[in-house]
Amino acid sequence: MTINCGTDGRLNQPNFEGVYGITANPLRLIYLMGTIWYLSQKCKHNHVQVLEVGSWCGASTLTWGECIEKYFNSNGSITCVDAWVPYIDLGANPTEDIQMMDDALRKNEVFDVFKHNIQFLPNSIEIKIHKGWSQDILPSLKKETYDLVYIDGDHKYDTVVSDIKNAVPLLRNGGVMCGDDLELQLHECESSISNINHNVDRLYNEALDTYYFPGVTQAVGEYFGAISSWAGYWAVEKCDNGWKDISLEHMPANIPSHLNPKSLIGLKVVLMKMGLL
Ligand SMILES: C[S@@+](CC[C@H](N)C(=O)[O-])C[C@H]1O[C@@H](n2cnc3c(N)ncnc32)[C@H](O)[C@@H]1O
Repeated sequence: MTINCGTDGRLNQPNFEGVYGITANPLRLIYLMGTIWYLSQKCKHNHVQVLEVGSWCGASTLTWGECIEKYFNSNGSITCVDAWVPYIDLGANPTEDIQMMDDALRKNEVFDVFKHNIQFLPNSIEIKIHKGWSQDILPSLKKETYDLVYIDGDHKYDTVVSDIKNAVPLLRNGGVMCGDDLELQLHECESSISNINHNVDRLYNEALDTYYFPGVTQAVGEYFGAISSWAGYWAVEKCDNGWKDISLEHMPANIPSHLNPKSLIGLKVVLMKMGLL
């Protein structure tokens, strides 16, 4: 794919080539946008504050930006928390994708690409960047502030548990906690997964013929039980007495404009099959 450069030699569009776009599942981005639509239907204020744990090169960040522009008239902020340094145990995860991600982090490319990509957010959306470990940063953020917290950092059980627990007090009542990589919910697993090596990122479940992230499955399942999820994206609403599922049944299917043409064709086919386009 050719990427055009501006007159000063810089790319004049976001860069999600190769490993930079590897983490973004196009179908899930539709549900991310649907969640902001959901909040816009029920919010009394015309401003939305999003907290994102795990930004990589900004595919989800730009997606939040696009739907804040659409549903909140660009009134909002996105707070990004990411360490942007190597974090995956290569010994326990000897796959080509993980090696590529680790290489890009080691070469400090990922943060630079993220900074390039967020230039394409609508101007009036405030972006706050916290570069560091979520375990250190989340406890320092203001309580009951965010309308949406998106958890998409490390998949290790201990980290997902700590991200969820640290994020809960940051979310206001009526806000949505959501995240990625819940391919399987705990109640769908036939046997206990608590004895699986916690450094393993992704595993194949033969019985259900699917890949899943055991740390995410276990942490989310233990904390919330069975919850609303779509193609691995999960979301629940904070209410007075705990959490409730949300419905995205009538959400408009918006496609983020930063998706590359290859992802776009596949995505349109999937959406048509689902009756969403
Ligand atoms: C799966 S990627 C995020 C993908 C991104 N949301 C997207 O849609 O493209 C996970 C990110 O979490 C970051 N990360 C992993 N563990 C972390 C931690 N404990 N604290 C902060 N960031 C972390 C990594 O640097 C990486 O950028």
